[in-house]
Amino acid sequence: MTYPIITLKKGKDRAVTLRHPWLFSGAIEKADKAQEGDVVQIRNIEGKILAHGHYAPQSQIRVKMFDFLPENLVLSNDYWQAKLQAAWTLRKQTIDRQHTTGFRLIHAEGDELPGIVVDIYADVASVQLRTAGMERLSEVLCDFLTKEIGCQHVFLKKEDKEEGRWLIGEKAQTEFLENGLRFAVDVVQGQKTGFFLDQRNNRAMVGNFAKGKTVLNAFSYTGGFSAYALAGGAKEVVSLDISKSAVEMSDKNVKLNFPETTLHKPVAEDCFRYLKEMPKDAFDCIILDPPAFSKSLATVKNATRGYKEINLKAIQKIKTDGLLFTFSCSQHISTDLFQKIIFGAAADAQREVKILAHLSQGTDHPISIYHPEGDYLKGLMLWVGK
Ligand SMILES: C[S@@+](CC[C@H](N)C(=O)[O-])C[C@H]1O[C@@H](n2cnc3c(N)ncnc32)[C@H](O)[C@@H]1O
Repeated sequence: MTYPIITLKKGKDRAVTLRHPWLFSGAIEKADKAQEGDVVQIRNIEGKILAHGHYAPQSQIRVKMFDFLPENLVLSNDYWQAKLQAAWTLRKQTIDRQHTTGFRLIHAEGDELPGIVVDIYADVASVQLRTAGMERLSEVLCDFLTKEIGCQHVFLKKEDKEEGRWLIGEKAQTEFLENGLRFAVDVVQGQKTGFFLDQRNNRAMVGNFAKGKTVLNAFSYTGGFSAYALAGGAKEVVSLDISKSAVEMSDKNVKLNFPETTLHKPVAEDCFRYLKEMPKDAFDCIILDPPAFSKSLATVKNATRGYKEINLKAIQKIKTDGLLFTFSCSQHISTDLFQKIIFGAAADAQREVKILAHLSQGTDHPISIYHPEGDYLKGLMLWVGK
């Protein structure tokens, strides 16, 4: 097979030989004519094949690479099926599918499939195809999802308010299990693919420490952390989110698991205001899982302020001996910067604060060691004293 060739500038091939999946336009010496979404072959200035990827002529990231074998690729359906199968094999090793039927099957760069995200919710797959190259693979993907995973319904989710569409079947509302707890998800109306599966392990962690505690689940979305806190024996749980429909869904999810409970209080309100106005000592445990405050490098400074503000309020007001689970899912806020922000909040609050655990995304959201940008979810479990 022949592909348009992208030749790199002298000395600009290091990132590719180190398997970083993004090729920036500045590294390119010359490029054969290619269309958006075409497979291109990356070579160094001496003509050695280094990688293959999908071309995006308008993007700063000119090629997203999915293969680093130094040889001419034969791209057939079997090639792609093998890649999908590798991702599935990894999930089979790490997900207890008897108790967890909602999991991420394909995690883009983490599975050497940049541009593809697939979340499975029992027999429904919610799919994002974020590059023109990967859009061309929707048939192969659907074939795999139905034959290998047993999906009956496949929804193609679009970003930026563009309407998604059903590729196979149709079932907007479905239910799945996560560590034995039941959750309802709306893949059409829901945020991202419908549910934040990346927090599974951290929700279990909250459940392990919730016994007898009053819990504030701030930025609760559809109440994942709340259900785990109640399962862990919490005395009271407040689910707080600015989205009324998310908060209603949080109550639905709690009731799916605990139909008779009176311990759950859903509140639709702005977290910044709530945290500012809530009395001191109302909660033994607070979870802060805001949306990505920074979507680009340019907004890191403002985002830093946002994270500091909510963490400062939580540290000031949590009960002595309290537990704070605090997160950032901004790719541009590094683990180091996030810890520094929390340090600043703790210092301003003038309270004792200890890190009990560093938290991250679950095993079904693998991070390629060659693509540190994939390490987007950072969290700290903190103890707050006097
Ligand atoms: C990352 S999601 C939270 C996911 C959730 N913790 C879970 O486990 O499913 C962030 C949530 O914050 C909510 N949100 C955004 N801005 C908010 C604000 N100012 N006050 C309250 N909620 C807000 C969004 O509606 C969204 O549901």
